[in-house]
Amino acid sequence: MKKIPISFAAFCLLLSSCGNSETASLKKEAWGNVNGQEVHLYTLTNASGAYVKISNFGGVVQAIGVPDSKGEIADVALGFDTPQGYINYGPYFGTLIGRYGNRIAKGKFTLNGNEYTLATNNGVNHLHGGPTGFHDRIWKIEQIPAEKGNTALKLTYTSADGEEGYPGTLKVAVVYTWTKDNQLKIEYEAETDKPTVLNLTNHSYFNLSGGKDKTILGEIMTIHASRYTAVDETLIPTGELPEVAGTMMDFTSPKAIGRDIGELGGGLDGVHGGGYDHNFVLRDKPGELITAAFVYNPVSGRTLETLTTEPGIQFYTGNFLDGSFEGKGVVIGKHVGYCLETQHFPDSPNHPSFPSTTLLPGQKFQSTTIYKFGVRK
Ligand code: GLA
Repeated sequence: MKKIPISFAAFCLLLSSCGNSETASLKKEAWGNVNGQEVHLYTLTNASGAYVKISNFGGVVQAIGVPDSKGEIADVALGFDTPQGYINYGPYFGTLIGRYGNRIAKGKFTLNGNEYTLATNNGVNHLHGGPTGFHDRIWKIEQIPAEKGNTALKLTYTSADGEEGYPGTLKVAVVYTWTKDNQLKIEYEAETDKPTVLNLTNHSYFNLSGGKDKTILGEIMTIHASRYTAVDETLIPTGELPEVAGTMMDFTSPKAIGRDIGELGGGLDGVHGGGYDHNFVLRDKPGELITAAFVYNPVSGRTLETLTTEPGIQFYTGNFLDGSFEGKGVVIGKHVGYCLETQHFPDSPNHPSFPSTTLLPGQKFQSTTIYKFGVRK
């Protein structure tokens, strides 16, 4: 039989499915249209069958399939079946967030003597990069080489000078790596041509029951932070960093998420929508990768360790989800998932005492976060 010469790359293209070794695979599927442009969903599967699904629309992590203590793989991320679910939508399920994660007071900040005004989309404040932040953009996407058994996708986006009111052309690259041992590694890089501010994160919501539990109140959380940023009634930091010790904010030892959550129902804390929506202070500046949080679901046995180089982490318990819609067939009610958004502190451009979020021309912003899934038998 005559052999037809075919390159490895062409072979992959034909199959629309290939990995960097026999053990990992990458599958690309059409995922519908956004503003007349076709977007795609990529499934990265490792040798054990665990997978993540990522789109070039909003850089969305649409699904995370990991095993429980019996080896049963189920999806532990909230999301939607179609890109339409994500367009201009409030919960930011699994999306990349930029230019600035969380809030900037009244959408205003001053840098080098210039005042900048951003779009406001959360009452009087600017939230998650504005109405058409990075979550609502179509990113360029390509597979890049990765260690054997891992699969990596690089997403890039150039944010124009003045986009959503921010100064400078900002070039952003995000590498998602799905490893052979069920770690989702997210590496962020950015460069600017004018002084600017940024705070990049991912807004994945987790429920380690894999769709079985309607709330996450029974999951056992540890957050390695002795302080948090206190906020006013519009969720803007006051500048105070109270101690968590002896309060409902204390997660320094493992505690059920629901144990003290009722204390967040009234008074000033009513602004949090009756749950956690707080930036926990991990340290006073970015640094080496450290474990920021560890969660354990006692029924499924699944665990999630969050590691980051960032100084803060927003623990948000889905307080504003109200059961009025479904995502991937699940009714999205209050506390159905939580986010662990690694970040700089909210409103840092207006708080000189917080770790700086300024990026200057010639500097390279770099940040890494790992969501590491496991089981406890
Ligand atoms: C962040 C905010 C919350 C909320 C969610 C998105 O976690 O801190 O207040 O806006 O994003 O719904």
